[in-house]
Amino acid sequence: MTIRITWARAAAAIVGLALAGLLFAWSGVFNIAASSGHWKITDWFLHWTMRNSVRAHAAFSAPDDPKAKEGLVSAAGLFKASCASCHGAPGVRPLPVMQAATPPAPNLSINARQWTDKQIFWILKHGVKYTGMPGWAAKDRDDEVRRMVAFVRLLPEMSPATYRSLTEVPGVTDAKIATCAGCHGADRRGRGQPDMPVLGGQSPAYLRAALEAYATGKRQSAVMANAAATLTPEDMTRLADHFAAMSGIGGVTPSGSTAAARIDREGLPKVQLPACSSCHAPGKPYPVLAGQRASYIAQRLRNWRGDETVVDARKSQSTMPVIARRIPEDMIDPLAQYLAGR
Ligand code: HEC
Ligand code: HEC
Ligand code: HEC
Repeated sequence: MTIRITWARAAAAIVGLALAGLLFAWSGVFNIAASSGHWKITDWFLHWTMRNSVRAHAAFSAPDDPKAKEGLVSAAGLFKASCASCHGAPGVRPLPVMQAATPPAPNLSINARQWTDKQIFWILKHGVKYTGMPGWAAKDRDDEVRRMVAFVRLLPEMSPATYRSLTEVPGVTDAKIATCAGCHGADRRGRGQPDMPVLGGQSPAYLRAALEAYATGKRQSAVMANAAATLTPEDMTRLADHFAAMSGIGGVTPSGSTAAARIDREGLPKVQLPACSSCHAPGKPYPVLAGQRASYIAQRLRNWRGDETVVDARKSQSTMPVIARRIPEDMIDPLAQYLAGR
């Protein structure tokens, strides 16, 4: 006897299967317990699916330059604060509670070798569904993701001593301030890191507002959002005052290219670029730029230019995205160096 496959029969079979699936889900027979783990075959299948997905997506959407060349300290500090509990770190075990998940987070000192830089970039930026692996906690911050790729890449060779030296600075007794100092340095000048602003000498009101903006997501940075998330309003005021009172920026006279000096003093009327010094000057309620780290100034200006959320200038709360877009690209670095006073 032969059964002829007709459209009606095929449709009935599909509906039948869907109903059976629904019945199975409704019955409660399926065991979702994390404690029971996956069967070997399920584990293999899920991981195989994940690898294929990462390979395909990373090939199309990860940047060609997925790994930063410098700036490991901020990535290491973020790793310590928000990744190590699941994954562990050199000389640090993962939390047992986190390892009781299904699947448990892998040891990156081993697993990092299995992925290309582009694939790690993609995983860090987007996370992995159904596993607990989170996506990047800030929008438009590929520069932060690239620094984390560089850090993860080094994990297989990293000694516990190197990890400690990246994440801690000696000699700071106040526990809260010590967390900040792990990245910003005992002298608050940022441990020579290119992505780290100098906090000492900055306006306390501006630092306070920046902490608030990070905590609420108005200013996007996974690194600082994480550091600011647990601060109370009183902490924010205390820390802002503390850092602002240290020596750092201030007393620096901008110097360098004359084209940059002109933009600072007069702007570029042709492209409606206002003079930087019309706002950023002593005695005005704007952040101090003179003496700030050049690479950090350039990074902020470039972030504002690339910021996809402020395409409509009238809806943006800050004027800086609009101003940053009007600076000619070839003037960003000279201007940043001029303001830094080098
Ligand atoms: C809640 C626990 C958890 C946290 C927090 C977490 N991860 Fe993961 N991560 C996982 C799990 C689980 C996987 C495995 C996903 C898989 O293989 O399907 C994973 C996978 C990865 C991978 C790919 C390695 C591999 O072979 O699967 C990298 C790289 C990674 N995580 C880095 C990080 C970084 C960096 C952070 C912090 C920004 C972080 N993770 C935070 C749970 C976590
Ligand atoms: C894991 C590293 C890290 C830790 C820990 C950290 N910071 Fe930061 N901080 C950074 C980086 C990187 C930036 C630049 C972020 C950006 O691009 O917006 C920054 C920026 C800031 C800014 C903005 C300054 C400006 O000129 O706009 C303030 C204020 C600040 N941090 C204060 C703190 C305080 C207070 C703490 C402790 C509660 C702290 N940070 C902890 C890395 C860190
Ligand atoms: C109309 C006033 C105004 C003008 C003109 C202006 N700025 Fe700003 N600038 C601001 C404000 C307000 C902030 C704080 C923005 C925030 O917190 O989001 C800022 C912040 C900055 C920062 C970040 C400082 C830090 O510590 O993170 C940089 C860098 C900067 N401006 C560069 C410039 C440059 C370069 C020019 C000239 C081309 C310029 N600004 C002109 C108002 C101005």
